[in-house]
Amino acid sequence: MTKLAIIGGTGLTHLEGLNIIKHEQINTPYGSPSAEIVTGELNQCQIIFLARHGNPHLIAPHKINYRANLWALKQLGVEQIIAVAAVGGISRDMAPAHLAIPDQIIDYSYGRKHTFFEEEAVTHIDFTYPYNQELRSRLICAAVKADIKISPLGTYGCTQGPRLETAAEIRRMEKDGCDLVGMTGMPEAALAKELGIAYASISVVANWAAGKAEGEITMAEIERHLHKGMANTAELLKAFVGWER
Ligand code: HPA
Repeated sequence: MTKLAIIGGTGLTHLEGLNIIKHEQINTPYGSPSAEIVTGELNQCQIIFLARHGNPHLIAPHKINYRANLWALKQLGVEQIIAVAAVGGISRDMAPAHLAIPDQIIDYSYGRKHTFFEEEAVTHIDFTYPYNQELRSRLICAAVKADIKISPLGTYGCTQGPRLETAAEIRRMEKDGCDLVGMTGMPEAALAKELGIAYASISVVANWAAGKAEGEITMAEIERHLHKGMANTAELLKAFVGWER
């Protein structure tokens, strides 16, 4: 298997079942990544793990040094990334605790350092398909084999956060075609593409998006659903690496 990294999001600051081999503090021309990078064995396969929000979870989505995170992984020879991200569910089939492997992105975030091509000749990467199709297919196959229910498609809308959205913002995103809403998918996906790293995501639905259910969205609700969704995510990741072995 080519070198795989898992980026863990909210609810996944450490990976269940990972036997840790080493922690590494990596420096990059863009600064330090969110946390020490962990090398470990999952289901007898060597993988790399990075906690996107730091460990403990302290870095807000708009404050994450996405460039340092991606550069550090590239420096370690990573060729494929599975990025796990908590999201709100917009479409009817994206209920809390459900998993999706999105295939498209709409970016509503702003002011983030979103490219490596700043001071040199401008390069316009193709971003028609923001996620690596082959890696997505392999993840979907692993889910089917392990009998883990997932949605194999979906459009991920990336908002700025850290606040959640208004009901009107979610209505607009729904009209735009978004099925899921999260805060960290961009610029992560684009930076991976700029570095030539295959990138796919597991979106874990933590709550119905604003206005899609009665009442307020609470952190307690988010944590409860994430707990269940992350247990399935860990199973999926184990199945994926085992299947690839
Ligand atoms: N909106 C944006 N990001 C999120 C949400 C949400 O409702 N839930 C978890 N991450």
